[in-house]
Amino acid sequence: MANLYETDKLLEEYLLLHFGKPEEVLPWEFGPAEALEFPARCVTERVKPVKGARALEIGCSVGRACFELSVFCDEVIGIDFSQNFISQAQELAQKKEARFSVADEGELRKELSYRLEDRFRPEKVKFEVGDATNLRRDLGDFDIVLACNLLCRVPYPQAVLQRVEELVSPGGQLVLTSPYTWMEDYTPRRFWLGGFMRGQEAIRSLDSLKKALSSSFSLDDVVDMPFLIREHGRKFQWSVAQASCWTRL
Ligand SMILES: C[S@@+](CC[C@H](N)C(=O)[O-])C[C@H]1O[C@@H](n2cnc3c(N)ncnc32)[C@H](O)[C@@H]1O
Repeated sequence: MANLYETDKLLEEYLLLHFGKPEEVLPWEFGPAEALEFPARCVTERVKPVKGARALEIGCSVGRACFELSVFCDEVIGIDFSQNFISQAQELAQKKEARFSVADEGELRKELSYRLEDRFRPEKVKFEVGDATNLRRDLGDFDIVLACNLLCRVPYPQAVLQRVEELVSPGGQLVLTSPYTWMEDYTPRRFWLGGFMRGQEAIRSLDSLKKALSSSFSLDDVVDMPFLIREHGRKFQWSVAQASCWTRL
């Protein structure tokens, strides 16, 4: 399957998800406002700020969570498989602004712009293309590692879980979120972490995460996190990720 995350459609949807103003995403007084600004909330609601920390985000897309981390971290590395997303994130870090358009109705589009907020420190952030299932060996270790809505989008999520054990330093934080949308288009069924029957037993992704991580991490918190992706002016995907927050033993 062609990589959806290299398409212009996904690029504009993710730019809006990461950097859209609440009223640009949801222009009505009704609607699931608590689902807005998901990438920012993955940091502001799930990470305990540690001044001067070193942080890694795997599957960073166009980079909002990395910029949030830069508020208190002295070094942030954002890695994504999509060249398109990483180029956009690098351009934003350099120019401190982005202009993009999003689908509105049929062929009609809306022009939007975003200016990087002053509280962000883009000079602390490095974005690079990389494969979460085969990360470069010389990344070192981190006080904070984030992988948001990544696990059910890689062919072999077990490889990510094995590697995070080395990547998070003792006492460090690991934040995983996922709506567990398991699809064979992304992950062969035999590598799904959950969402299937094994004999009489329903296998749940959170239980597999506990099995894979509990020898090296303690589980601090499990929280439901809604998020909203706008497809066009009147069409949205509302999803609920499950966040699990871990401390490296
Ligand atoms: C559902 S999006 C989530 C993006 C972002 N974390 C967020 O929450 O908005 C999945 C992201 O994972 C990236 N991705 C998919 N396969 C990957 C891989 N093997 N290595 C690194 N990133 C990958 C995609 O390019 C995309 O940016």
